[in-house]
Amino acid sequence: MALMEIRDLRVVYRMPDLGLEVKALRGVDLDVERGEILGLVGESGSGKSTLAHAVMRILKPPARLVSGKVILDGVDILSLDQSVFDREYRWRRIAYVPQASQNALNPTMRVLDHFFDTGKAHGLGDRSEVERRARELVAMTGLDPERVLKLYPHQLSGGMKQRVLIALSLLLEPEVLILDEPTSALDVVTQAGILRAIKQVNKKLGVAIVFITHDVSLMPSLADRVAVMYAGKVVEVGPTDGVIYEPLHPYVSALISSIPSLYADVASVKPIRGEPPSMVEEIRGCPFWPRCPYVKEVCREREPALSSVDNRKVACFLWSPS
Ligand SMILES: Nc1ncnc2c1ncn2[C@@H]1O[C@H](COP(=O)(O)OP(=O)(O)OP(=O)(O)O)[C@@H](O)[C@H]1O
Ligand SMILES: [Mg+2]
Repeated sequence: MALMEIRDLRVVYRMPDLGLEVKALRGVDLDVERGEILGLVGESGSGKSTLAHAVMRILKPPARLVSGKVILDGVDILSLDQSVFDREYRWRRIAYVPQASQNALNPTMRVLDHFFDTGKAHGLGDRSEVERRARELVAMTGLDPERVLKLYPHQLSGGMKQRVLIALSLLLEPEVLILDEPTSALDVVTQAGILRAIKQVNKKLGVAIVFITHDVSLMPSLADRVAVMYAGKVVEVGPTDGVIYEPLHPYVSALISSIPSLYADVASVKPIRGEPPSMVEEIRGCPFWPRCPYVKEVCREREPALSSVDNRKVACFLWSPS
């Protein structure tokens, strides 16, 4: 059994004033294995952050959870009382660093005080133990704890803030850590440092990491497995080398071919033709069919289920009859 099983997760954003409903997640199925680094990639608007919010139970109106389960170690965390989830799961078993959260650090508090605060909020009263752990975690992310723990947030660079947030999120030793676009606003050198930090904490602590990004080119050097989202669903998931170098889903092939940094020859880069579907309209058939070079009759009629093909899963009628 996987550590975390996401099943048929559906979320809408309801805007009755506009008479609109955005179907942001249309039935996401995804497993997170113990101790792995799972890359969750997809274009802007494909539903990555909404998925993280639903799993962390922080969806806010106009978002609404329609249905689905998130089973962590045998327990459906979406059906728990909010107070039980907050006390026993958030931070303790599953932690999250949101997209663009560098400014979440309190400007009036030194870095170490953030650790004390978080520890106190979760019943870690022993300050010397919290400090010991803060040093260990900050060092694990490649920063000098002697220096960094004394600093105020404005004295940290963007990359340092991101590392501090990662260290802080690990204070209560979660089994799963979701990082939403942790490297997006950073230059390439800083980005490489963050990736090293993530690999280091994954290896030393055994924490499973879900790394959300729109940047597929980060995957080969980072992730054990990759899941690709398109229009509110996972369309392909499997070991990194397979998904990146021999993708099965035509969307994933098109996505990989559209990325200059994965290929030496920039001239061979091909943009994906067409546009992603509107998430407001009802989607009939496969969401990728209007852009797909292999479209068949059935693709316009029905949406393919995510089905096993060797050691991965893919939602495409080219590979599976259902
Ligand atoms: N507060 C909101 N109100 C209405 N629609 C929203 C809201 N937040 C997100 N959406 C819509 O839900 C869909 C999924 O958005 P989401 O932010 O989850 O995508 P994403 O994959 O994280 O994109 P990005 O790469 O830009 O962060 C999009 O169509 C988006 O426009
Ligand atoms: Mg996002």
